Order: sequence, then structure tokens, then C-alpha cells
Amino acid sequence: MADKILAGRTAIVTGGGRGIGKAIAQRFAAAGASVVIASRKMDKLQATVDESKGLPGRMLAVPCHVGRKDDLEKLVAATEAEFGPADILVNNSATNIGQGPALEVSDEAILKTYEVNALAAMRLIRLTAPKMMERGRGSIINIASIAGLRPQTGGLVYSSTKAALIMMTRVWAIEFGARGVRVNAIAPGLIQTDFSEFFWKDEGYMGELKANQPIPRVGQPGEVAGMALFLASDDASYVTGHVHIVDGGAIAR
Ligand SMILES: NC(=O)c1ccc[n+]([C@@H]2O[C@H](COP(=O)([O-])OP(=O)(O)OC[C@H]3O[C@@H](n4cnc5c(N)ncnc54)[C@H](OP(=O)(O)O)[C@@H]3O)[C@@H](O)[C@H]2O)c1
Repeated sequence: MADKILAGRTAIVTGGGRGIGKAIAQRFAAAGASVVIASRKMDKLQATVDESKGLPGRMLAVPCHVGRKDDLEKLVAATEAEFGPADILVNNSATNIGQGPALEVSDEAILKTYEVNALAAMRLIRLTAPKMMERGRGSIINIASIAGLRPQTGGLVYSSTKAALIMMTRVWAIEFGARGVRVNAIAPGLIQTDFSEFFWKDEGYMGELKANQPIPRVGQPGEVAGMALFLASDDASYVTGHVHIVDGGAIAR
């Protein structure tokens, strides 16, 4: 069927149990993909699998701390055993424990944020891209942020991991392009999830957003999932190496 544009494809979505990752995983399964969702909390993952049972694509939950290399290796092995090698990888998991004045953030918080937000993506790409290139097809999507494109007070650690994801997107794209593997980043603006509740629950922040953002409201996870579906699909066959901004126009101003 025309709407099952990911039929026969295998996808890995990190952090697929809630928020933006969940919306992406369910959009992919609705488009016929076999989807593996992976994060630390198995209860959230399993709830997403159960909720998605009526969708055309199958879904599997795998426990995984993306900051741990052996967990990432087990995730890829479990994916291959259940559904075959990944055609689509979405690096979506992230943490923001290092928010605050840059001089006060501990080395431990900096290292952990880099491991989860940037190194994990690099490692997962190294674990999955060779088999994508062998088959001559693949789509890798890194969930960055507009925080990786413009500076934010108190955001040194998080923002610099997102800037790292954006640059790795470009480098991988030029290395893999001739072998059929596309690499793109999505930079969301404010999206209503647990991650960002500090902002969207703040009336003052929302007042300013409404006064300045062309689409004057917080975004929803499904509004990022549409961009991910496009980038994962063959409709995006000539699209690689770019950052696709989904921010209600926030940084157009
Ligand atoms: N919401 C926004 O406004 C916004 C804006 C720009 C960019 N983003 C980006 O969008 C992505 C998704 O965020 P979200 O807003 O959907 O937040 P969320 O609902 O809080 O989801 C974060 C996900 O990351 C997973 N995760 C965190 N640490 C992990 C670890 N060590 N290992 C494995 N998984 C881990 C969480 O799962 P577990 O807790 O089960 O591990 C969860 O599924 C992130 O990359 C974030 O930076 C969000």
C-alpha cells in the first residue's frame, strides 16, 4: 500500500518509550516498518509496544543505556536477530544534566552528557552503517536541537553536544553518500515533553514565545515525527547532510 512507505524496513529509535522518540517509533510502525525502541526504562518501552499493537509494523523493546558501549552492541545484535539489520537509525535519546552556569558544571556531568548525547550516536552509527552500506541503503537521523544552532545562557554542555551531533551529521553524510546511506539531523524547537517542561510550564517563558515565535505555541512530538518519516523514506532520496529545523519559526526571527 502506498501509505506503508517503510514496509520491509527495520528501524532503531533510541528513547522510543516517550516524547519525540515514541511519536517517531509509532509513525514508523504506522508506515509499516519493524521498529526497535531502546532506553533505560523497560516499563515505558513495553507500554509503547503494547499501545502500538494495532499498527501495521512490529515493535520490539530493548533495554539500553546508550552511554554504555556493551548495551549498544547488545541493542544492535537484538535488532538483527529479531528483524534483520537496521535500515533506519534514529539517535534520539538525550540528557540535560549539565544545565546551568558553565563554570559550575562538574566534569562528571559534562562527560555523561557527551556520552549520552553525542558519543552514543557516533557509536551506534559505527555499529549499523557498515551493513547499511553493504546493502546500499540507509537513513540515519540525529535528533539535535535549535540549541545546537544558537547559543543559550546556561546551555554550554547540552548545546555543544547538539552542535557536535550536527557536525557529525555532515561528516558522516559526505563519507557515506556515495554508498547509499543518507545522514540528516532534525533540530526541534520547543516541543511539549517531559524533557522541556521547565520551559512550557513557565508562563513568563511562554508569554515571550507567543510574542516572538511565528507559530505562537509549543510544538507536539508528532510534529517532529512527520519530518523523521520523510527523512527515513525514499521520498528523501536526494536529501543528506542537512539540519531540518522544526521550531514553529523560532529561529527565523
Ligand atoms: N522537547 C524539546 O523541547 C526538545 C527540543 C529540542 C530537542 N529535543 C531533543 O529531542 C530528543 C527527545 O527528547 P524529548 O523531548 O522527547 O524528551 P523525553 O520525553 O524526556 O525523552 C528522552 C528520552 O531519552 C531517553 N534517555 C535518556 N537518557 C538515556 C540513556 N542514558 N540511555 C538511553 N535512553 C536515554 C529517555 O528514556 P529512559 O528514561 O527510559 O532512558 C527518553 O525516552 C532529545 O534528543 C532532545 O534533546 C527536545
